[in-house]
Amino acid sequence: MVPHHIAIVMDGNGRWANKRFMPRVAGHRQGLEALRRCIRLCMDRGVAVLTVFAFSSENWARPADEVSGLMDLMAGAMGREVPTLKQNGVQLHFVGDRRGLSDKVCQGFDQAEAQTADNRRLVLNVCFNYGGRWDIAQAADRAAAKGLPITPEGLAAELSLAHVPDPDLLIRTGGELRVSNFLLWQLAYSELHFSDVLWPDFDAPHLDEAITAFAGRERRFGKTSAQVGGVSADPGASVATST
Ligand code: IPE
Ligand code: IPE
Ligand code: MG
Repeated sequence: MVPHHIAIVMDGNGRWANKRFMPRVAGHRQGLEALRRCIRLCMDRGVAVLTVFAFSSENWARPADEVSGLMDLMAGAMGREVPTLKQNGVQLHFVGDRRGLSDKVCQGFDQAEAQTADNRRLVLNVCFNYGGRWDIAQAADRAAAKGLPITPEGLAAELSLAHVPDPDLLIRTGGELRVSNFLLWQLAYSELHFSDVLWPDFDAPHLDEAITAFAGRERRFGKTSAQVGGVSADPGASVATST
């Protein structure tokens, strides 16, 4: 089965550039190409929601020229990419803390969201200046401001991805085996897939490998294998049938 919602930590742009003796920002530019490709592939494969980590709340700590390069890339991508995304039926959401972002970037986000709001083919969430801890804290803040009790359901309704179900599959490229403050709440029951491929090199075979691996997983959500219709892993059951 194809996952309904795929989330991706698009990691490895810097190393891709380093290997080629290019500036890190050239890796990010190539990473944008890979994202464009991945969006098309997800639509072809029947994925309904794609959520990508483009800039974390911790990435501000990078060298100033890399941070400004990433901001410029995002601002530029807005003008270039949005018309095509709009035409292709992509509904865009920019998820993250807008404070600290330039007016130009924020206006671009608002316009892109407004222009694509009626699209239904693929929901694309771009996490930019996003942190999982920020998300949970801002949800708690909003629930408290409404006088709502802090419950799992109440908080979930205030999280920045409340418009989509939780990711079924998380892919991280670039070889690191960590979450890096991505969707801390929403990944509770996501299947995890780690790839050594650097994000700019990520292409159809790598996405298909992840989707195939996902299809082979048994999602139990706390139940037993027998309860969810799989082969019983209960050794007592096998003893009983073999005697
Ligand atoms: C991910 O690639 C993109 C961002 C964090 C913006 P990196 O820039 O982290 O690439 P590596 O991990 O240094 O190779
Ligand atoms: C996570 O990658 C953030 C994005 C891909 C945007 P990082 O490269 O920032 O993660 P760490 O620092 O290696 O954990
Ligand atoms: Mg990295």
